[in-house]
Amino acid sequence: MSVTIGTPLQSSAFKVLLLGSGELGKEVVISLQRLGVEVHAADRYEHAPAMQVAHFSYALNMADPVALKALINQVQPNLIVPEIEAIATQVLVEIEEQNIATVIPSAKAVNLTMNREGIRRLAAEELGLPTSAYRFADTLESFRAACDDIGYPNFVKPVMSSSGKGQSRVKSFAEVDAAWEYAQTGGRVNQGKVIVESQIDFDFEITLLTVRAKNAETGEIETSFCDPIGHRQDAGDYVESWQPQAMAPAALEESKRIANKVTVALGGCGIFGVELFVKGDKVWFSEVSPRPHDTGLVTLASQFQSEFELHARAILGLPVNTARHSTAASAVIYAGVDDTNLSFSGLNLALANPNTDLRLFGKPEGFKRRRMGVATARAETTDQARELAEFTAQQVSVHQN
Ligand SMILES: Nc1ncnc2c1ncn2[C@@H]1O[C@H](COP(=O)(O)OP(=O)(O)OP(=O)(O)O)[C@@H](O)[C@H]1O
Ligand SMILES: [Mg+2]
Repeated sequence: MSVTIGTPLQSSAFKVLLLGSGELGKEVVISLQRLGVEVHAADRYEHAPAMQVAHFSYALNMADPVALKALINQVQPNLIVPEIEAIATQVLVEIEEQNIATVIPSAKAVNLTMNREGIRRLAAEELGLPTSAYRFADTLESFRAACDDIGYPNFVKPVMSSSGKGQSRVKSFAEVDAAWEYAQTGGRVNQGKVIVESQIDFDFEITLLTVRAKNAETGEIETSFCDPIGHRQDAGDYVESWQPQAMAPAALEESKRIANKVTVALGGCGIFGVELFVKGDKVWFSEVSPRPHDTGLVTLASQFQSEFELHARAILGLPVNTARHSTAASAVIYAGVDDTNLSFSGLNLALANPNTDLRLFGKPEGFKRRRMGVATARAETTDQARELAEFTAQQVSVHQN
């Protein structure tokens, strides 16, 4: 069955409802707009980045099942595309069961990946993929025991959290109680449960962007991979990324095997950001996003089809091309201040080099560590690209008005 795209704002419109309207969603919306899709963008606050390029926008609490259901009934989308994890996923399961709309990539994938316990048990226990050793705990007492069991240093993460919120690296028993307290404040919902993971002593970590898209001739879903993306994290948040990450052929092969297995199990069409730890030929599965990945912003500069275009095409049932044309890097631009109505200058300096580019996300409010933009750069080597991307990001200064 091939997809037919109508005319936006008319009765034939092919409608996408985006749940979460951040900077990654904004690029997905731009890709969908280019293909004539009618886009509806939702988030918890008004003027979110993706809302600014969508046909319609809605501010609501997407974790509220009643509000979410009402929105879906109102919009009547063909596709529902979650961009964040904090949504009432049980509503999406119902929508899929009742064939009201297609959930991208699948309600199962969205449901399992919003909770570290769901995806970890699937990967390690059902699929037998290599991961760090782990325990779950939901009381201080069981948490102390879990930490002693796993050993030190270990990583503690609320099961419902992202971007490093509530996470800590626990170096000894003396730090255990403080890590528990911190995790309780950082979780998305006050659920209390945490995962304790053994520390993997990796050489480097990668995101393997994995696309499940229909073959143009057969209509069968096929898996393809982008070149591996290397990245550096600071306090659980990405600060720079580059593509390709050089790695041993055996490690790349193993990375693809892991990514294929986990994405087949999650099902549906779209792009997945599979996070892996690599040491020599050995690879561990860490986690997976069933959507574009922040470290994949580098693909705006390195690939014929960025991860956002790949996602847009894959979810529409269209063919994809994961080929890379350049070596490139990305570097994050932070607000550096807590304020609204910010201005950005130095763009002329940042863009003076023809191999650089910028995205400013247009977020209405900045926080010190909030990502407001990204710089990308192309060069001969990843080291040169990283240096140029970092330099480009530094040319941009943020001002309060
Ligand atoms: N078991 C581990 N061993 C070694 N390093 C780890 C481990 N778990 C997490 N890390 C480090 O912390 C980073 C963030 O962890 P993780 O990806 O699980 O959290 P996150 O909050 O989902 O982050 P993000 O949303 O930015 O992907 C990892 O990319 C890695 O650098
Ligand atoms: Mg991560």
